[in-house]
Amino acid sequence: MQTEDLQKQIIKLNKIGIALTSEHDLDQLMFLIVSEARDYTNCDAGSLYIREDDNLIFMVSQNDTLARRTGVDDEQVMFKPFSIPLTRESVAGYTALTGEIINIEDAYLIPPEKDYKINREFDRRNNYRTKSIMSVPLIDNEGKVIGVLQLINALDDKQNVITFPKESENLVKSLSSQAAVAIKNAQLTKCLKKAHYDTIFRLSAAAEYRDLDTAQHIRRMSSYSGLIAQGMGFSKYDVEMIVNASPMHDVGKLGIPDSILLKPGKLTAEEFKIMESHTTMGSSILANSDSELMKKSELIAISHHEKFDGSGYPNKLTGEDIPIEGRVCALADVFDALSSPRCYKPAFPLEKVLSIIEEGRGTHFDPRVVDAFLDNLDDALEIKELYQDEEEMTGEEAPRDIKAN
Ligand code: C2E
Ligand code: SIN
Ligand code: SIN
Ligand code: FE
Repeated sequence: MQTEDLQKQIIKLNKIGIALTSEHDLDQLMFLIVSEARDYTNCDAGSLYIREDDNLIFMVSQNDTLARRTGVDDEQVMFKPFSIPLTRESVAGYTALTGEIINIEDAYLIPPEKDYKINREFDRRNNYRTKSIMSVPLIDNEGKVIGVLQLINALDDKQNVITFPKESENLVKSLSSQAAVAIKNAQLTKCLKKAHYDTIFRLSAAAEYRDLDTAQHIRRMSSYSGLIAQGMGFSKYDVEMIVNASPMHDVGKLGIPDSILLKPGKLTAEEFKIMESHTTMGSSILANSDSELMKKSELIAISHHEKFDGSGYPNKLTGEDIPIEGRVCALADVFDALSSPRCYKPAFPLEKVLSIIEEGRGTHFDPRVVDAFLDNLDDALEIKELYQDEEEMTGEEAPRDIKAN
């Protein structure tokens, strides 16, 4: 390779490195790694495996030829994630166990004395011809192989399949170590987020523990809020924020006496006045935090009972003066209160729930919020189904994944 070419390659690699470091979402990161590596080596297909104990989990598969053939513009091949045992018998396994790059000229002509052979099942099923393969270990900063990147069918200018050039091996190796570190960070972030949500959920549940009806309510309300936010076009980050902040909306109920909170019948005006203070008490519990998430939670705690027409509490805010998060959570909260049993009321049939919500469009609720919710009603009902009240509350699961936009 010419010095000039090499320089260009390194600049390109740097750009890829920056792109990878800025993607913190694990799924999107893995997708990006395969597409960047394919773009870099100009090849038809690629896949990514992640090592998990003694298995390799097949995570991403991209294939331009198959995507063209099926007319799907998304280059991601549909498949169910599956795992293969980590042994030397597969190319990916061999790569992971030895930490070596394997550069295969023709997958169908692998010498029999090699430990690994190709599984032609994929080719047969898809009428595809896997020819050249470059299988690259993803080695992290501690020297551990955390996965394998497989690049398939390098192409020349005329789209003919060629062998991956020997001299690209080192550059791809460098790309894959950047990828490995990025994956490790994203995995760590994912793990921390899960622990974080779990903590929030458990503490929120503890705050309302006396009010057993509300155990699964927290999960549902958080998922409905995410669903509405997504429907309104919130960024992925903001959707995640509302999903994580909304469980704490009623922590102020901690300060409400059982005699009121658990009263089977209707509250007197005086009791309701006390009940209203769960918003301000919640906000003072959550106040003065540096954490962006806590700030959002505080905002939701104080504003989730405001009404669009100004008749809510505690501040009688109107319209857009009510923080958007509060407007979103208000509907999520009421939908759940209406559609589930409470100590003071039975679950209402869906028809009645929807008519109350439609009646509240523009008076109780922001019309945009109502529209976003009704547009995604099927998903809301799925959430309701998923987190039913009878279920033992464990706090293990994160809320239902919100489908990507
Ligand atoms: P929650 O049970 O989580 O209810 C949240 C919100 O859902 C209520 O806010 C209200 O806007 C709506 N909602 C609940 N049930 C009905 C209903 O039958 N019809 C209609 N149209 N809307 C309903 P709200 O009213 O500000 O109440 C806040 C909290 O105060 C409630 O949270 C609940 O913990 C308590 N609460 C309200 N009313 C009663 C009651 O009559 N008896 C008892 N024991 N608690 C009540
Ligand atoms: C393997 O690593 O053996 C699987 C690769 C393939 O079948 O394309
Ligand atoms: C956002 O915060 O991302 C969007 C806010 C809105 O839809 O009003
Ligand atoms: Fe509340």
